Amino acid sequence: MASQRILVLVKPDGVRRHLTGEVLHRIERKGYSLSNISWVQADEERLARHYAELVNRPFYPALVEYMMSGPMVAAIFTGDRVIEGVRSLAGSTDPTTAAPGTIRGDLGRAWSGESTMNIVHASDSPENAEKEIAIWFGEAEG
Ligand code: PPS
Repeated sequence: MASQRILVLVKPDGVRRHLTGEVLHRIERKGYSLSNISWVQADEERLARHYAELVNRPFYPALVEYMMSGPMVAAIFTGDRVIEGVRSLAGSTDPTTAAPGTIRGDLGRAWSGESTMNIVHASDSPENAEKEIAIWFGEAEG
């Protein structure tokens, strides 16, 4: 299989809690290569494109508020099967029950507030990775 790439966001809670280095370090230690990195500030327009499948979900307004609550770090990692690998490192959505050993399981928990705060986003398919890289790095899709 050809080398893949993935878009990783260290979400605002991850940045606020000084976990950026830890998250990136775990992905690098697994063996994936960092190929681009940037500070980003989400706005409603970019989030609507990024979470296009979720805009009608009841939790979407809380998700937008959370994702706009501070700066994020966007990173592109590359490597064979990097999407499966990074999503396995990230752990399941709910940080309270995410498996120990994963980023969310080791570093996340529930906090008061409406939104699930789970530290990290990782693209779930090659198509979504390319779409999300275009959104956060301004690359032309294709
Ligand atoms: S679902 O229901 O299967 O579509 O959801 P899931 O794939 O687990 O999550 C999709 C993204 O929505 C985020 N999410 C939430 N955000 C805020 N509040 C609540 N309750 C909530 N539930 C799910 C979840 O973190 C996923 O975002 P990313 O950025 O991919 O982690």
